[in-house]
Amino acid sequence: MSELTKGLEGIVATKTKVSSIVDDQLTYAGYEIDDLTENASFEEVIFLLWHFRLPNAEELQNLKGQLFDNMILNPRMYSHFEDYATDQIHPMTGLRTSLSYLAHFDPRAEEFNEDAHLNKAIRIQAKVASLVAAFARVRQGKEVVKPKKDLSYAANFLYMLFGEEPTKVQEEGFNKALILHADHELNASTFTARVAVSTLSDMYSGVTAAAGALKGPLHGGANEQVMKMLSEIGSIDNVEDYVQKKIDNKEKIMGFGHRVYKNGDPRAKYLKEMSRKITDETGQKELYEISVKIADLLKEKKGLLPNVDFYSATVYHSMNIEHDLFTPIFAVSRTSGWIAHILEQYADNRIIRPRAEYVGDVHRKYVPVSER
Ligand SMILES: CC(C)(COP(=O)(O)OP(=O)(O)OC[C@H]1O[C@@H](n2cnc3c(N)ncnc32)[C@H](O)[C@@H]1OP(=O)(O)O)[C@@H](O)C(=O)NCCC(=O)NCCS
Repeated sequence: MSELTKGLEGIVATKTKVSSIVDDQLTYAGYEIDDLTENASFEEVIFLLWHFRLPNAEELQNLKGQLFDNMILNPRMYSHFEDYATDQIHPMTGLRTSLSYLAHFDPRAEEFNEDAHLNKAIRIQAKVASLVAAFARVRQGKEVVKPKKDLSYAANFLYMLFGEEPTKVQEEGFNKALILHADHELNASTFTARVAVSTLSDMYSGVTAAAGALKGPLHGGANEQVMKMLSEIGSIDNVEDYVQKKIDNKEKIMGFGHRVYKNGDPRAKYLKEMSRKITDETGQKELYEISVKIADLLKEKKGLLPNVDFYSATVYHSMNIEHDLFTPIFAVSRTSGWIAHILEQYADNRIIRPRAEYVGDVHRKYVPVSER
């Protein structure tokens, strides 16, 4: 057996064409995210991740149409939110349930061939946006909003969430955020998705398992915790004490550090700039200033740099998005990457089954319960 590597750090577990991190640059199918974030739509990125090339005009139009058509949920899907969409349940818990429940309404859920896989891919990608928006509205006692034709994926999500069309600036900002979160090599949730489907289980199992992994605060759950921290800090005068206490208590500060990037997360610079602009526009400049001060202190004291979750928190907050929806929104975007990896896993599958080093007791003998 090979040597144990805690957290599988540095272990190469699969080959992929979906995305890669080379010299601290993130690329999707060979395109740098800087290029895509500046120029592409999220729909083009979805196609790129699933097909390893950008779509032509007709393919893009088709994909947009299919995504819109599939955003509408089965009526029973809408009504199930009435049962559990409340403030007592974290929306990621709700999303995990709903992703699984989607399979109940897919007549091709158990079909196993390329066409069925792509059909499921589009259904899931389209519906995940509707699931998150519907949960958020129902728990506020509001009517569910159905998608609107001819809106982009980014705009439709915001429309279904808020009940009104976003401005161009909001749509563009959200489109960029979706692109930046779409995929990230073999992160924990993507690996989870690949493990689940490597048993040849269905795509719904893969994305449901992945959503469960994303929920944790060490992964996608970090963005919500960042906002919690900023609220706790409250004012720029409190930053230094807060950070020092965390360092002294050896507590982690959410939104910092990364398993792979040690020179900074390439996605953070976009989100930082978006955060600067949007907090300024919405009269919440101090939130940005607090964030920058935390980042400066952590760099100076611990050599730690912000990751994708740090500035995305203030961006979403300034868009009036409820804090516990930050991680579900991450999931809406990352679903595209999960699906890409699931398709890739199916195309060249071998069950993922590593070994464990046993460190428990040995040579024990059964003792009847009456003698214990
Ligand atoms: C992302 C993360 C899980 C990576 O974990 P990892 O690769 O296992 O790295 P480690 O947790 O072993 O961190 C290495 C060192 O940096 C420190 N460190 C890492 N991230 C830290 C953080 N956010 N705050 C304070 N210290 C941190 C660790 O305490 C450790 O220090 P030590 O060697 O003195 O024990 C980790 O950085 C983290 O928990 N970050 C906060 C959660 C977060 O923002 N997640 C989103 C990731 S996109």
